[in-house]
Amino acid sequence: MVSFVEQLNESVAYIRNRCKGETAVGIILGSGLGNLVQEIETTCEIPYEEIPHFPVSTVQGHRGRLLFGRLGGKPVWVMAGRFHFYEGYTAQQVSYPVRVLRLLGVKTLLLTNAAGGVNPKFSIGDLMVIQDHISFFTQNPLIGKNEDELGTRFPDMSEPYSKSLISKVESLAAEHNIPLQKGVYTGVTGPTFETRAEYKLIHLLGGDAVGMSTVQETIAAVHAGMAVFAMSVITDIGIREEENTITHEEVLQAAREAEPKLTLLFTEMVKSL
Ligand code: HPA
Repeated sequence: MVSFVEQLNESVAYIRNRCKGETAVGIILGSGLGNLVQEIETTCEIPYEEIPHFPVSTVQGHRGRLLFGRLGGKPVWVMAGRFHFYEGYTAQQVSYPVRVLRLLGVKTLLLTNAAGGVNPKFSIGDLMVIQDHISFFTQNPLIGKNEDELGTRFPDMSEPYSKSLISKVESLAAEHNIPLQKGVYTGVTGPTFETRAEYKLIHLLGGDAVGMSTVQETIAAVHAGMAVFAMSVITDIGIREEENTITHEEVLQAAREAEPKLTLLFTEMVKSL
């Protein structure tokens, strides 16, 4: 039986053998937000299913490949498509690619996602910088034996999202006249969208947005000592009293429409790193 760390090393060795890239920046793209890859001068591409020990993405709107290339002239590893707990993967599998990125040399991780807004000031299409998160409604990916080679047993989580990366994006957004919201992302398991009572509860608990990804990846990244930056596209407003039905198609559509702003910001951000 190959140990977890040995599995990671095998994944990394396979990737290194196919892609010669070295870089400190990694990006994971969320639902309906895969078009950023068009901005990348790709030099190497590996479908997830070809990487040993990698889970395989199944959900519609996710493409499932690892890319190496340049964004705004800077080298990046990009995970186009992520793994979700609701697909049946364990929390550890969901965060597996983050560990692989870390072992590939990534120290700064940029994440995107589609999320439901529960802050009444938010509108569909808003970009929200994730300032902090609530992960209690999901499963922690660090449960189980701690791999001391990857990180400490009890990681500090006082600054899961790097303050310096947040201020960098705020200045870039101001420069390009892109309005930004800032708030707390609440991670849930899905796959159901929330009931009205649940959206209200999330808001009462201090959440500004809710989504089915990101928190497990962030936890694994912080555990491994990475600096994380994450941005949500608000694709639906959960706290509406009327017309409160939400569909996956609507989420993907709203994500696609907001994507150009996000692509611009991410490109500028990578350039500045
Ligand atoms: N809830 C949970 N996840 C989501 C939502 C939502 O309203 N929108 C996009 N992802």
